[in-house]
Amino acid sequence: QLELCAQGTKETSQVNGILLPKKLCDIWDEVWNFQAQPDDLLIASYPKAGTTWTQEIVDLIQSDGDVEKSKRAPIHLRQPFLEWTRMTITGITQAKTMPSPRILKTHLPVQLLPPSFWEKNCKIIYMARNAKDNMVSYYHFQRMHKDLPDPGSWDEYFKTFLEGKVFWGSWYDHVKDWWRKKDSHPILYLFYEERMQDPKSEIRKIMEFLGKNLKEEVVDQIAYNTSFEVMKKNPMTNFSNEARMNHGLSPFMRKGVVGDWKNQFTVAQNKQFNEDYEKNMADTSLSFCMEL
Ligand code: A3P
Repeated sequence: QLELCAQGTKETSQVNGILLPKKLCDIWDEVWNFQAQPDDLLIASYPKAGTTWTQEIVDLIQSDGDVEKSKRAPIHLRQPFLEWTRMTITGITQAKTMPSPRILKTHLPVQLLPPSFWEKNCKIIYMARNAKDNMVSYYHFQRMHKDLPDPGSWDEYFKTFLEGKVFWGSWYDHVKDWWRKKDSHPILYLFYEERMQDPKSEIRKIMEFLGKNLKEEVVDQIAYNTSFEVMKKNPMTNFSNEARMNHGLSPFMRKGVVGDWKNQFTVAQNKQFNEDYEKNMADTSLSFCMEL
């Protein structure tokens, strides 16, 4: 299952053709055999689709909007990133020591999700973001994250992303395969752009999915506390204490908008992208909004 292709210090590997960090592939059997519990909630996404935003909303809903409770620890300690290794701590060991109900995060494509999540019929929230903004956000993230491969120049990265040669694989396959999976599994499929347009209605969708009924004023509070401006200032959500990130190069809470791709794509790249997009999205009913 495992194929190694070392690249300097930021080693990469593959599992079934999907590019992943080597340190993840080294513990792949442990990831694949992870035992989910029926009351686990999984937050799944392609990297940079607004995962942290979703995580904070879920955490606040679970604590009935109690913002002080959500400040108990940084988001990655409250909700383990299943397949990630930080120094010697893995998301798996973190998850194993947590009380139920657990909230877990993953970027794994559908086919690589540990089978126990399907077997236990766990609820899953999938967060999706339009490919152009997703790509731009991922580019800047790779520039600032010390454990991710150097993205090279924007022109180089543009090519790499379209070829799906980035960690966690092709954006197209990821969003389309999870979209298909929701027909046979309890998956709430959400869009970054819709949340930007109407945060409260998206928060209510998540509440309903989790079987929670909170008062309107609590929903208002959650919307406020999960706004870009507030999360950017919150050390429990902005990763400011994460030594592996260089926020001077590009902050984790970077822009938080729809349509930033227009500042990054050249006219020629946009044309090339649109042609590629049309081909790759021809076989799905899934559609995205690229500007508001
Ligand atoms: P940008 O780089 O475009 O600013 P993830 O959590 O999956 O890594 O996604 C990070 C992206 O989501 C970043 O996008 C970040 O700014 C954005 N984001 C995080 N919290 C947000 C919020 N509350 N509102 C809007 N965007 C948010």
